[in-house]
Amino acid sequence: MNTTRSLSPVRAFHQGSCVTGMRPRALDLFCCAGGATKGLQRAGFHVTGVDIRPQPRYCGDEFHQADALTFPLDGYDFIWASPPCQRYSMATPHARRVNHPDLLDPTRQRLLRARVPWTIENVPGAPMRADLVLCGCQVGLKIRRKRYFETSWQAFDLVYACNHEHPVVSVVGHGTPSWVRAQLGYNPTIMQYREAMGIDWMNRNELSEAIPPAYSEFIGRQALEYLGRAPETTGTLMEQNNGERLRS
Ligand SMILES: C[S@@+](CC[C@H](N)C(=O)[O-])C[C@H]1O[C@@H](n2cnc3c(N)ncnc32)[C@H](O)[C@@H]1O
Repeated sequence: MNTTRSLSPVRAFHQGSCVTGMRPRALDLFCCAGGATKGLQRAGFHVTGVDIRPQPRYCGDEFHQADALTFPLDGYDFIWASPPCQRYSMATPHARRVNHPDLLDPTRQRLLRARVPWTIENVPGAPMRADLVLCGCQVGLKIRRKRYFETSWQAFDLVYACNHEHPVVSVVGHGTPSWVRAQLGYNPTIMQYREAMGIDWMNRNELSEAIPPAYSEFIGRQALEYLGRAPETTGTLMEQNNGERLRS
C-alpha cells in the first residue's frame, strides 16, 4: 500500500537549494494530521508525510499512505519521526502497554543508516536519549505537553525551565479526563484545545496524537542551521511563538 497525494506546488526556497533551487525537503514519518509537519514548514522545509492510515486533514506538501518502517528514505535533507507513544505513555495502563508494538527502536535503526540529520520525538518514559525536552510553557502555550527529542546532531539548547504559572490544558486520550476538568474548573471545547496546541485544523483524536507545531519549528530551524541553510523564521522559542500569534 502506498498511495500518493500532492497537496501544493513546491515553493522556491529563498536561498535556493544546492541541487534543485527549491526548499529543502523534510520527510515526516508517522505524520498523522501534521502537527510536526506544520512547524517544519514554518521553519522553511517542503514536507512529505507518511502514515499507515489515510490522513484527510494532513497539512503538508505531499502525503504517502505507507509503512514508515519500509518507506524509502532517499531524497530528503532531513527526517522527522514520531512513532506511536502508547507503549511508553503514562496515559496507557502498565498491563496494556505490551499490546502496542515498539516502533521506536526499529525506526532509530533505520535513521542511523540515513545520511541526513534526523529527529525522533516521543513522550517522557520512552527508551530514547532526550537531547531536547520541550513543554508548552516554554513556547508561551497554555498547555502541559512535555516531549523528548533525540537528534542525530545531539542538539543542546538553553531553554526556559518548565514553569506553568496558570491553569493549563492537557490533551490526552479521546475525551476530557476528570482530572483535567477538575484542574481547570471547566470542560474545554475543541476550540480551546486547538488554541492551547496552536493548531486550527485537527479533530479531537488528531490533537491527542500531535505535538504543537512550535516544537518542530524550533528544531527544524536548528536542523536548517546544521545543514548550513537559513531558516525562514528566527527568534527565541518564546519570540517565535509570539510572532506566530501575531501572524494568525
Ligand atoms: C503520535 S502520531 C504522530 C503525530 C504527529 N507527529 C503530529 O504531530 O501530528 C503516530 C502516527 O503513527 C501512525 N502509524 C502507526 N504505525 C505506523 C507505521 N507502521 N507506519 C506509518 N505510520 C504509522 C499512526 O497512524 C499515527 O497517525
